[in-house]
Amino acid sequence: MRVVSGIQPTGRPHLGNYLGAIRNYVKLQDDAVAAGGECLIFIADLHAISMPHDPAELRASTLELVATLVACGLDTNKTVLFNQAQVPAHAELQWLLSGTARMGWLNRMTQFKDKSGKNREGASIALFTYPVLQAADVLLYQATHVPVGEDQKQHLELARDIAQKFNNDFCAEDAPLFTLPEPIIPPDAARIMSLRDGTKKMSKSDPSEMSRIELADDADTIMKKIKKAKTDPEPLPGDKAGLADRPEAENLVSICAALTGETVDAVLARFEGHGFGAFKPVLGEALVETLSPISKRYRELLEDRESLDAILAKGAFRAREIGTPTLDGTYSALGLVRGRDR
Ligand code: TYM
Repeated sequence: MRVVSGIQPTGRPHLGNYLGAIRNYVKLQDDAVAAGGECLIFIADLHAISMPHDPAELRASTLELVATLVACGLDTNKTVLFNQAQVPAHAELQWLLSGTARMGWLNRMTQFKDKSGKNREGASIALFTYPVLQAADVLLYQATHVPVGEDQKQHLELARDIAQKFNNDFCAEDAPLFTLPEPIIPPDAARIMSLRDGTKKMSKSDPSEMSRIELADDADTIMKKIKKAKTDPEPLPGDKAGLADRPEAENLVSICAALTGETVDAVLARFEGHGFGAFKPVLGEALVETLSPISKRYRELLEDRESLDAILAKGAFRAREIGTPTLDGTYSALGLVRGRDR
């Protein structure tokens, strides 16, 4: 079992990242250790340069993200935690896989369409080839399990297509080089929506901070954001079917269920016939209960920047070791000559 996943250091991590992905990293690190496998979680700083960015902010938010991940429960004795920029094999493998990835495949990626918007001609090449780097990220380590939210499913399918084509084109049938990775998407919290618009994903790049709960928000901010979250005037229904066409209500109830570990129906059974005036304080309290230990620990960890640097250095060293055989195998399969002295 090899668990691999990444998160970008752009903006501040939010509840969608936590419920959709980070919580699963923490669970899977234990599963991997119990199975005698390995868990690698990285900060996708190379992906972050695909959009306009400020270098000083990128540097700061990379360390902040290390602190967040540890505060959320990643244990560096169980998980190899690092940033891509310290492991050049990610960028190398991306290039090597660029001969296999097809233009038509990348043209279908919805994230490129969303992020480039009307300005396709002005988008960076990195934004277009971003999914090939993402494929390299997981294929480099022979990932078997990749915990992600729903929005990353298409990128993972592309990684599988690249792996399959490379194996077919360059490897003997009984000796494929790349493992096909499986996305691990949580059944309930795969797509947490904006608090201002239940049809839009909760996102770091939304200009309104009121649209998301950030993991470092204090209790007052969380309660205020939930109080102001968009809802509708109807009372809550008795079961999930009654939430159809009520995206904001569905989102808030799903968040509550994901936090308390109940099903959506069980949450609704408690609140059937009540308005949001009764429901929102309970949701706010559940959020504070989950997030306040995380934000407290985060603040403590941020005090010691040297330890955060040391975590990344140690993780990168191990990641380089784990990735080397696959990178070497890729050069060799492609017939690239590298000499003996490396
Ligand atoms: P990123 O940084 O946008 O998000 C990190 C993780 O959080 C999940 N996520 C959500 N889940 C539920 N609801 C939401 N509103 C929500 N928003 C984000 C994402 O699905 C993701 O799992 N391209 C990736 C980073 C990446 C990566 C990889 C992931 C780079 N290489 C290799 C897996 C494997 C990204 O931008 O995620």
